Amino acid sequence: MKVHHYGLATKSIEKSIKSFRALGYETCSTIIFDPLQGVNLLFLKNENDHLIELVEPGQEENPVAKILYKLGSSLYHICYEVENLDLKIEELKKQRFVQIIPPTPAVAFNGRKICFLYNPNLGLIEFLEK
Ligand code: NI
Repeated sequence: MKVHHYGLATKSIEKSIKSFRALGYETCSTIIFDPLQGVNLLFLKNENDHLIELVEPGQEENPVAKILYKLGSSLYHICYEVENLDLKIEELKKQRFVQIIPPTPAVAFNGRKICFLYNPNLGLIEFLEK
């Protein structure tokens, strides 16, 4: 499975952009509001071509508020690209992965489906269907 991006929770996308620029990152999207997750998103890249997704609370109800409250700005998920989301979920549920967010179309990926699973040894993992 190919890594698609690393997700970083932040209170301020604007402030994080400034700090990432100091490390050689450039933005490669505008700020995108995802109404299904209630978050603002923006993608950055550096010379490795590793995509970093900045995730900022976009409304009161959102999945990153708790992470920000507990940990402050932090990397909190790795996203992998998979051929078939449903098959991958079935396969991983047998290995102590728990579904946190079921397959949902994502605005940031032109409606391609994402889902989030949790494993006690790995933390939060996102999958993006090809
Ligand atoms: Ni993500």
